[in-house]
Amino acid sequence: MVADNAPAQAQQPLLRLRGVSKTFGPVQALTGIDLDIPAGQVTALVGDNGAGKSTLIKTIAGIWEPAAGQIIWQGKPVHFRSPKDATDIGIATVYQDLALADNLDIVQNMLLGHEVLRHGLLDEITMEQTAKQTLAEMRVTTVRNIRQPVGSLSGGQRQAIAVAKAVMLNAKLVIMDEPTAALGVSQTALVLEIITNLASQGIAVLVISHNLIDVFKVADRLAVLYLGRMATAGPVANYDTASAVHWMTTGTGPSGNGSAARNDAGLGGLSDG
Ligand SMILES: Nc1ncnc2c1ncn2[C@@H]1O[C@H](COP(=O)(O)OP(=O)(O)OP(=O)(O)O)[C@@H](O)[C@H]1O
Ligand SMILES: [Mg+2]
Repeated sequence: MVADNAPAQAQQPLLRLRGVSKTFGPVQALTGIDLDIPAGQVTALVGDNGAGKSTLIKTIAGIWEPAAGQIIWQGKPVHFRSPKDATDIGIATVYQDLALADNLDIVQNMLLGHEVLRHGLLDEITMEQTAKQTLAEMRVTTVRNIRQPVGSLSGGQRQAIAVAKAVMLNAKLVIMDEPTAALGVSQTALVLEIITNLASQGIAVLVISHNLIDVFKVADRLAVLYLGRMATAGPVANYDTASAVHWMTTGTGPSGNGSAARNDAGLGGLSDG
């Protein structure tokens, strides 16, 4: 996975959006979105309620088809007709509550739909080893027993298992919608650590968060949506909490820069990361 993503991708973002728009009847949810998502970096997507964050990730995840614009994956335009199309090329979306089956244990959850068979029977030993190895690679150490039902885990641990499952399926891009929204302090720390570890393995991470403290802890790049438009995007070093809040609440920069002037979602912003 690491080798796949490393030097060859250095110049070219893993995923590029160009002019992506999406309408719901009369509602223009997304307008002309440009965004670059590089491998090995954490991109934080922020914006006020209704700004279009969930719509944008659902478009990347193949749930919505854009009304206009292009999704470019590893340099090639792609058209997703279903979430499976996106999953198949390596885009995994982690939703906090929907992803896992409470009554199944960790191994069963991680291999659900991808069970390993041996002579027509479930190969429990191999599946257990695969699950264990993935969790170890992600440095998830707080899970004591991988045969415990997922329903008995904390929110942070559940999130860890959902991400581990995505990683095991060779995701190149992991998208997380508000992964820490419902979590306490130590669980949030665990999830932020996992996010950082994913990026250090060469995986691209796109994370939606309302929590700018978390964002500044983990993100390499920031993208701010305002009323369905990309107000600004670039290396996180270009922003501080005050300027990010300004962009989120007004769609303009603190010095009154208009959106088009500051949007460096294109390749220009990538070298700094
Ligand atoms: N399925 C849908 N049908 C109709 N309108 C929708 C649908 N999904 C989103 N919208 C509209 O698109 C706009 C963007 O919504 P979206 O859910 O993407 O915002 P968001 O940035 O994720 O907000 P929040 O921070 O509250 O989660 C809103 O005006 C919303 O009402
Ligand atoms: Mg949302």
